Amino acid sequence: MRIGVLTGGGDCPGLNAAIRAIVRRAAQYNYEVVGIKNGWAGLLGEADLLPLSTKSVAGILPLGGTILGTSRTNPFQRDPQVDVALEKLQFSPDGAQPLIEQLEAYQAAYVQRHTQQVLDNIKQHGLDALIVLGGKDTLSVAERFHRLGVPVVGLPKTMDNDLPETDYCIGFDSAVTRLMDALDDLHTTAMAHHRVIVVEAMGRDTGWVALEGGLAGGADYIVTPEIPCSIEDVCKHLQARHASGRNFSIVVVSEKACPSDVPVRPVEQKDAFGHVRLDRRELGESVAKAIERGTGIESRTVVLGHLQRGGSPSVFDRLLATRVGVAAVDLVNAGRFGYVPVLQGNRIVPVELERTVAGTKTVDLDLYELAKLFF
Ligand code: F6P
Repeated sequence: MRIGVLTGGGDCPGLNAAIRAIVRRAAQYNYEVVGIKNGWAGLLGEADLLPLSTKSVAGILPLGGTILGTSRTNPFQRDPQVDVALEKLQFSPDGAQPLIEQLEAYQAAYVQRHTQQVLDNIKQHGLDALIVLGGKDTLSVAERFHRLGVPVVGLPKTMDNDLPETDYCIGFDSAVTRLMDALDDLHTTAMAHHRVIVVEAMGRDTGWVALEGGLAGGADYIVTPEIPCSIEDVCKHLQARHASGRNFSIVVVSEKACPSDVPVRPVEQKDAFGHVRLDRRELGESVAKAIERGTGIESRTVVLGHLQRGGSPSVFDRLLATRVGVAAVDLVNAGRFGYVPVLQGNRIVPVELERTVAGTKTVDLDLYELAKLFF
């Protein structure tokens, strides 16, 4: 048995711990493990592979990032430039139909060529199974290849923690710990200057990092995409807080959340899965300025950005990565493909890949209510 392993999407702490667990467990079954470099990109064109052994993964448990490299490559992506042309043609007179059909045929062939390259590489390099570590985008690709007959097992990783079916994803706890540590440090300077500090957290469509990190770090207001609010709400709350004698505040804003009445810069640039570059919106700065205007309290912004994804994994992430890594190899050994071992309660259980990529796990509203008790 020869198992291929890849890490796709944004990196996060805990990926190497999972790779190590996979290689060590596979060795116990006498299986060979081959790393696929840079996510799905490593199976396009000339395959980019890295043989892994117990020896080569020694010492990687505490390392952040991924020794395999990662990317947001999507083999099912259509040619983006041709899609732009097709969009323009939608508004052309009827005579454009033959050209539209020609371009659609080109797109189908484009996707077919890339997906075939992946299938050919899997075959040519004798990969009997794939273990794919990823969030929704990477696992959606895994799920499509599984439907095309590839024996795949997925592993849940994303600092956003937005995958359904699992209580936690690899990388989330480390990210939340980074945010909590930053909030601890920011308290002293906010207090000293009697300022509001707005901290922008990552998390894409959901506010898990902002909510759990904010709760653990004593945030005085948390803005998440799931809970609508206006800058007026935020300002009123901060003014009341300051009037009651607490003359500083820490506000955590999740990157895709925005008080309804704060203008943010629209962003055009998208990745291979169609996600916009949220880091270009200058959200934190806009919210801080709006708070300063609305309350008269001096405000500053901190954008934690990729610091939330860097460095060594937390204890929780090392344990989770190790447990699901071992479980993935056990699933391969049992011939159970199309599953993802996930954490439910304190148990690791296999769930169907398609269930982990169907929809988005949004924040626990009860937990938000609890966080509000401390605003
Ligand atoms: O999905 C993980 C994540 O860190 C998001 O929270 C964030 O929006 C995005 O990746 C950032 O992506 P990139 O590393 O490509 O800037």
